[in-house]
Amino acid sequence: MTFFASILGLRARTAPAQRAAWFKLLEQARSGPLFASPLHGEAHWRGVAGIGLEIARIRPGLDVSMVLAFAMIHDSRRYDEGWDPDHGLRAAHVAQCASPLKRLMDDDRIARLAQACLLHQKGRSNTRDRDVGACWDADRFSLVRLEITPNARFMSLGYDDVEMRELIEVAQKISAEPPEWDVLIDAAIKREGVGA
Ligand SMILES: [Fe+2]
Ligand SMILES: [Fe+2]
Repeated sequence: MTFFASILGLRARTAPAQRAAWFKLLEQARSGPLFASPLHGEAHWRGVAGIGLEIARIRPGLDVSMVLAFAMIHDSRRYDEGWDPDHGLRAAHVAQCASPLKRLMDDDRIARLAQACLLHQKGRSNTRDRDVGACWDADRFSLVRLEITPNARFMSLGYDDVEMRELIEVAQKISAEPPEWDVLIDAAIKREGVGA
């Protein structure tokens, strides 16, 4: 077997294992009480994932696995649609304990993901850890689903006017019809956008 054939064979074996781990993680996220909520349930999670993948398309080098995991987990332990100040803390606990994540990322990335979940509701931006910043930006662009226009001042990755306009348009499309999980997971594995 040539070197390239062996690499391709490895990839072919890796992708199904990764896919299975992502769906296991999703199963754990869905065990929260509001997973079917139209406001903060999995339609929103799929929207955040799709928008995050689009951000990663215009900002190469971002960790798309972190963005996808954040999308699945960050609001998965909301107990209340309104004031729920500890839902980030509960989501961080999911990130730290979910065994499928350990098959998808190393301890350092899991720790950063847990931080992203813990602090996502605090209204901060993060320009230092761009992967965490991308997670929070994706969640903020998803405000379009509530007819709130995202503001560049609160974004972590510094978008110019043209990028803001494009991302808001993409976020509106994605939020109106969020891609299914299999599309999002496959796109993340291949590091592609979702073609909004
Ligand atoms: Fe939240
Ligand atoms: Fe959210």
